[in-house]
Amino acid sequence: MWRCLLLLCFATSAAAGKPDPQRQRELRSLLKNDCGACHGLTRKGGLGPPLLPEALAGKSDAELLRTIQEGRPGTAMPPWKPFVDADETLWLIEELLRKQPVSMEHGG
Ligand code: HEC
Repeated sequence: MWRCLLLLCFATSAAAGKPDPQRQRELRSLLKNDCGACHGLTRKGGLGPPLLPEALAGKSDAELLRTIQEGRPGTAMPPWKPFVDADETLWLIEELLRKQPVSMEHGG
């Protein structure tokens, strides 16, 4: 399991503009705790819509980037620009598209 996660990290950290490992940890915890507050701990949705890969499949990076950076005026979705810059947001989007959070998919 951990080896798997490590491999994922190594495989992806080669590209440019990636947050450093310390920042990645912060961003992951932001994703879980802050985004999770509205989108669900397992990102299956709550107050906000699901953020699972299949839910986001049809949307462009640019569209997701704008939504996360600027928020959606008139909805509960807040702008994250003050906390997360564009590169970091793109990294978050990759996270969302790449990985299913650990969840109880079976039996539920
Ligand atoms: C206070 C609640 C709240 C928080 C916190 C929140 N969101 Fe949202 N989010 C929403 C709501 C509500 C919507 C739906 C907006 C609409 O109706 O268009 C949304 C929409 C989105 C969308 C668009 C989904 C789609 O299908 O188009 C994305 C992507 C998204 N949020 C990502 C995030 C990320 C990443 C975070 C954390 C950095 C986050 N959200 C934190 C409430 C929240």
